[in-house]
Amino acid sequence: VDALGAAELRGKRALVRVDFNVPLDESAQITDDTRIRAALPTIRQLIDGGARVILVSHLGRPKGFDDQLRLSPVAKRLGELLSKPVAKVDDVIGPEVEEAVKKLQDGDVLLLENVRFYPEEEKNNPEFAQKLASLADLYVNDAFGTAHRAHASTEGVARYLRPAVAGLLLQKELEYLGKALESPERPVLAIMGGAKVSDKIQLIQNMLTKVDSIVIGGAMAYTFLKAQGIATGASRCETSTTKKDGTTIDLLKLALDLLAEAKERGVTFLLPVDHRTNDKFADSDTPNVTPDANIPEGQMALDIGPKTEALYVAEVKKARTVIWNGPMGVFELPGFSHGTFAVAQALAESDNLSIVGGGDSASAAEKAGIVDQLSHVSTGGGASLEFLEGKILPGVAALDEA
Ligand code: 3PG
Repeated sequence: VDALGAAELRGKRALVRVDFNVPLDESAQITDDTRIRAALPTIRQLIDGGARVILVSHLGRPKGFDDQLRLSPVAKRLGELLSKPVAKVDDVIGPEVEEAVKKLQDGDVLLLENVRFYPEEEKNNPEFAQKLASLADLYVNDAFGTAHRAHASTEGVARYLRPAVAGLLLQKELEYLGKALESPERPVLAIMGGAKVSDKIQLIQNMLTKVDSIVIGGAMAYTFLKAQGIATGASRCETSTTKKDGTTIDLLKLALDLLAEAKERGVTFLLPVDHRTNDKFADSDTPNVTPDANIPEGQMALDIGPKTEALYVAEVKKARTVIWNGPMGVFELPGFSHGTFAVAQALAESDNLSIVGGGDSASAAEKAGIVDQLSHVSTGGGASLEFLEGKILPGVAALDEA
């Protein structure tokens, strides 16, 4: 969008795909407006350039029209953040929308209704994409968080509406994540966590080809420990998974293969050497700490232990580039948040390039109060994961084509 000149902006209707998929509480109040704030630079640039801004986003996963998932609270919040009124229509296409678009003056902002109220959106229906395209003179995609979806408003529309360009947020996300993968200052460390190895197989495989060291936390570590004959007690431990085509993957074998590949490639691969445990999945003011990597029978590991914490913090301090995806334990429980927060704190204190893939690690960084000390916290959960897995994001590919 910053490549567009005044002639391309003033008086022009810009259809801007944003990701305003924000968390709401029971009374439809926004509990975290990070994604709305992240879209402000692009929206402001378009306003300042005299464009007529038409914003389109999804919210949640509605099945048809759903009063609970209207974008009205988002319009209100956006208006507050922009200090200017944001008009809102209750539809995405059709006469009401066309009327509202006609009324727009240069620099005005209009938010359309939740685009997923139309099943055509997720089906990437060409007629629906064409109808969206017909509302505007140019297309801006700033929805990094939804760039992994080939939907009508993220992918299809770029075929019918040109120029089709990246917004400032999308551009920034691709720059940071791309730099970490393709031209990083070394050594590069990947910190990976979360509950299931099956969710992160491709991520680990891609990271093995990019980084110098990997540290693993969260319940997915127990699969690697068990594969090596280490006791995992009553911990959550994924040992197999079924693929969409019905075939089963033996995760213990896969874990050994990944460890062997790391060795072959000379990638340092660190697993927990101790754990904080409880006898049930619940918080504790005084978690038990295991003396070594073995988890006693009846005990459930819920966080990395102090020795592991020190080991991982030292890795963070050594690295020049760090990619963090996934928490080290159940950080929502205060007694088991130490490992995740220690890693977050180490990142905050280091002067390395620190990139946080969105989702759980982003909320952990938020909870630890260190977001401002990191180089980049992605607004994408699934999208940053797919990017780090080395996949092509359809929303980005559509712009490349355009
Ligand atoms: C997200 O929150 O990851 C994006 O907004 C995409 O949402 P989705 O997973 O429902 O497609």
